[in-house]
Amino acid sequence: MAAARGEFSSRFGFLMAASGSAVGLGNIWGFPTNAASNGGAAFLFIYLFLAFTLAYPALMAELIIGRHTRSNAVGALRKLAPTPRVAKLGSVVGFAGILTVTLILSFYSIVSGWMLAWLLNSLASIFGLDAVSSWLTTDAESRNAIFSVVFMALTVIVIRAGVRDGIEKWASRLMPALIVILVLLIGYVLTLEGAMDGLRAYLVPDFSIAMQPGLIISALGQAFFSLSLGVGTMLIYGSYLSSKENLPVVGSLVALLDTGIAFLAGLLILPAMYVALANGVEIFSADGALVAGPGLIVAVLPALFDTMGSAGVFVALAFFVLMTIASLTSSISMLEVPVAYVVETYDAERGKATLMLGAGIALICLLIVYNFSTLFDLVVTITTEYSQPLLGLFFTVFVGWVWKRNGVLEELKKGYAGAEHSLFWKIWPLYIRFVCPIAIAAVYIQLVFF
Ligand code: TRP
Repeated sequence: MAAARGEFSSRFGFLMAASGSAVGLGNIWGFPTNAASNGGAAFLFIYLFLAFTLAYPALMAELIIGRHTRSNAVGALRKLAPTPRVAKLGSVVGFAGILTVTLILSFYSIVSGWMLAWLLNSLASIFGLDAVSSWLTTDAESRNAIFSVVFMALTVIVIRAGVRDGIEKWASRLMPALIVILVLLIGYVLTLEGAMDGLRAYLVPDFSIAMQPGLIISALGQAFFSLSLGVGTMLIYGSYLSSKENLPVVGSLVALLDTGIAFLAGLLILPAMYVALANGVEIFSADGALVAGPGLIVAVLPALFDTMGSAGVFVALAFFVLMTIASLTSSISMLEVPVAYVVETYDAERGKATLMLGAGIALICLLIVYNFSTLFDLVVTITTEYSQPLLGLFFTVFVGWVWKRNGVLEELKKGYAGAEHSLFWKIWPLYIRFVCPIAIAAVYIQLVFF
């Protein structure tokens, strides 16, 4: 047996870690642009609805499996299995999750590396280092290779230090900072000319766009990505949560923080885009849609910061610090998944395991950086659109159908004596058995076959 497993020291520590995992590029970048190009507040409503009816129950499934089994993804699903056959299926699902999150981390590190480069660029501009600036902001393979590796190194440093001294300590420092920076940026941007048009684009619902069939798929995909579901991330954080905690409550706080920060990010990004428009920056692409993708973060917003005069570099600095924090608190949660597996399965030393896995993932990053046009979109699509929801479905099936109902209730009762007679217990088991699997499967079939 390896050294004793880690445990978060407090509810606050867990909340910061889990919401740090959930809040990432998906919230600050993905959500606002998804909303803007899909009917504004209409998308927001559909997103919130799916987040609380499908993603929250799935989040609860992972947290509860993790806390009950106190194990990594593979070990956890094996422990729940009543027969060797089901245990084998559990291993396959757990392992597929570990593989998926490893690949997600490799593309995530590349994008986070861009954020880091742009952050340093703001510092370089403040000090008038023009040559450095232009190197940092030119999209070259060498720059991307260097910064994705630097970002992985940061992730490794935090994860090496363990659950309390790494994950919890850094999440508890960085997440409050993230919220403060976000709120300050919103306050500033909303005072600028054009911001109100952005608010309108974001908050006035256009149901005609929102009713298009592909929309539910993107909203559900967005919700699953945002809550870090399906790959064992929340499972492993749940496995470090004290048995005294009331799971439905902490789970709903994580979901609320995640959706709340996504909503706030929309109050920043959309107004910022329309301020850019008012300042003469092009924010629509050739087909009339709002610029989304990388063009938004590394072209539209920097162009906006340039029009802001001397305040611009400081706003840019704050913005890219925000993006880097959001990325780092997410990437550490991804790396913890394979690390916990290797440490617990091979009795490996944590520091060594983290370093080796980090190096391996950095190599995958480099492979993607140097074959960007063939690999990047492919890896993003396979992992986030195909693998993640399917694995999420298996997690709900394990809780709903494989694990005995009484076992689930016993686990809940540990931190919530009245669980049996709660509203949660009246509704959630039905969701986990029927609603979630059927809804995810329906969306999935539509994605794969239509
Ligand atoms: N949820 C994070 C975001 O919104 C990213 C993330 C962290 C993630 N862990 C994950 C995504 C596991 C998928 C799976 O950016």
